[in-house]
Amino acid sequence: MCGIVGYIGKREALPILMDGLKRLEYRGYDSAGFSVANGDRIVTEKAVGKVAELENKINEKDIPGNLGIAHTRWATHGKPSERNAHPHRDCSKKIFLVHNGIIENYKELKHDLEKAGHKFSSETDTEVLAHLIEEYSKQVPFEEAVWRTLAHVRGTYGLAIIDRENPQKLIIARNGSPLVLGVMDDGYVIASDVAPIVRYTDRVIYLDDGEMAEVTGQSCKITNFKRKKVKKEISKIDWSVEEAEKKGYPHFMLKEIMEQPEAVENSIRGRLVVGEGIAKLGGLRDVSERLRRLKRLVIVSCGTSYYAGLVGKYMLEEYAGVRTDVEHASEFRYRKPLLDENTAVLAISQSGETADTLAAIREAKNKGAITLGIVNVVGSTIARETDAGVYNHAGPEIGVASTKAFTSQLSILALLTLFLGRQREMSFVMGKRIAEELAEIPKLMKSVLNQADEIKKVAEKYSKYSNFLYLGRKYNYPIAMEGALKIKEISYVHAEGYPFGEMKHGPIALIDKNFPTMAIATKDSVYEKTLSGIQEVKARSGKVIAIATKGDREIQKMVDDVIYIPKTLEMLTPLLSVVPLQLFAYHFAVGKGLDVDKPRNLAKSVTVE
Ligand code: AGP
Ligand code: GLU
Repeated sequence: MCGIVGYIGKREALPILMDGLKRLEYRGYDSAGFSVANGDRIVTEKAVGKVAELENKINEKDIPGNLGIAHTRWATHGKPSERNAHPHRDCSKKIFLVHNGIIENYKELKHDLEKAGHKFSSETDTEVLAHLIEEYSKQVPFEEAVWRTLAHVRGTYGLAIIDRENPQKLIIARNGSPLVLGVMDDGYVIASDVAPIVRYTDRVIYLDDGEMAEVTGQSCKITNFKRKKVKKEISKIDWSVEEAEKKGYPHFMLKEIMEQPEAVENSIRGRLVVGEGIAKLGGLRDVSERLRRLKRLVIVSCGTSYYAGLVGKYMLEEYAGVRTDVEHASEFRYRKPLLDENTAVLAISQSGETADTLAAIREAKNKGAITLGIVNVVGSTIARETDAGVYNHAGPEIGVASTKAFTSQLSILALLTLFLGRQREMSFVMGKRIAEELAEIPKLMKSVLNQADEIKKVAEKYSKYSNFLYLGRKYNYPIAMEGALKIKEISYVHAEGYPFGEMKHGPIALIDKNFPTMAIATKDSVYEKTLSGIQEVKARSGKVIAIATKGDREIQKMVDDVIYIPKTLEMLTPLLSVVPLQLFAYHFAVGKGLDVDKPRNLAKSVTVE
């Protein structure tokens, strides 16, 4: 996590750094800080909490300088405090740096440095880097001191470093945490992702692991860990500043919920061929023949993307006939997975930077499996490291709670089902049916979103409760988990997501009049069973809110509140049933006065373990 920004060039650095921090704040908001260099004078300011606190602190102070680095922190080592806020520095206040990642061997390094007389001023793992560079700088030039330091470090980093004695230089380095270099006409802006860069330039260079860049206002030299100069390609960013702004909505999360019809539309555009009942996935073209022989698919992902994977399993096994397993990436990476060349490992990740998912993909590669990705952020590490993949094209997702990326992931999984299914036994008729229904989803989603006001009223009605059970069967079981995750992460209330049939094996003991249930009870192949489950909850005085299929009047008599969604093919129901749960969680949290875009303790992309 953490966001880092840096600038070197002809412009004033501070406004670029502050704007960049705000755009990266979703990555962490425990503290923020910057260092700006003006000749050999370096001014550093830090504040605990969100970027706004730092802004208040500097209060329009004039801090001139054309070189600077900045950081918004998600603490891993040392609690959120001003002392632990980045930039960190060495004893002589010569080297200043910002870091995203974890230095695993910091304890040993710190011990040795303290013995050599270095005085530490924070509890972070990061600070050892500044002192090590200081130590090496006594013998060798700045760049070489950075190389020697990195050779001693174990762990992950995205780093930006400045040195009082080299006021015309910014050094950045990457291993395991993302770094993008934006190429402007009169300088360079560097950041953890493209969000702070797009307003200045659409030309970027993605740094790879083991690479370091020496950037001056006019040029940049990129070398790899073998100290060989590498020639990097300049890529073009294809989304605009406007897309990343709130467009009049009070929160990014609401904007992104409302954007779902468009996001799904963009995910399927040009890929779904309704008349032929097929999906054309250009990103899989090169591996298409290998996928025809595929015996097994293993999906690795985390959080919301993991729940998308679970829905994918139901789709792929039922309609494409491909054996599919879904694993938490954090578990997969540390056990001994059985993989071979007829297995494909598919990473699903909005950010494309989640450390656990990335590590799982690397492990799968080592074991000879073909690796695939469903990723939203173009050019992200997972997108670049997988053998083939499909981009979501859902546009930037800024709200920490994932919404439109999730439904976009589901629509791509439906496309993948068509793609693999039609390579196998799926008939033209079935392919056409799925394609037709998928093409209708954006329109149907709009009709669910039109009920936003009613859903808000239901959320208000249940505002006093602090426990919820979310239940669903089959395709809607992962949606129950996703609904529970949404309310947990932004409202901090306890919610459990369960497969409906499991309720009687334990969670039913929780139910009483103070423990409401959100039941996903759409008219599908398990509808009757779901109704029996609802009866069981009602028999124990539990309140029930049902997500039901339009036209189902029966259910109204049974439950306390109903939110209706239109009918679609069973495998596509999750694309609609999740929407009221997102809106419910959103209004529930806003009603409590919470900052839904930046929930406590969380960060948007989890680039540490
Ligand atoms: C979703 O609301 C969460 N904030 C989180 O679970 C997220 O889905 C997870 O960290 C995975 O992120 P990714 O899709 O960027 O890999
Ligand atoms: N380990 C550093 C710290 O705690 C950076 C954290 C991060 O990248 O999330 O400050």
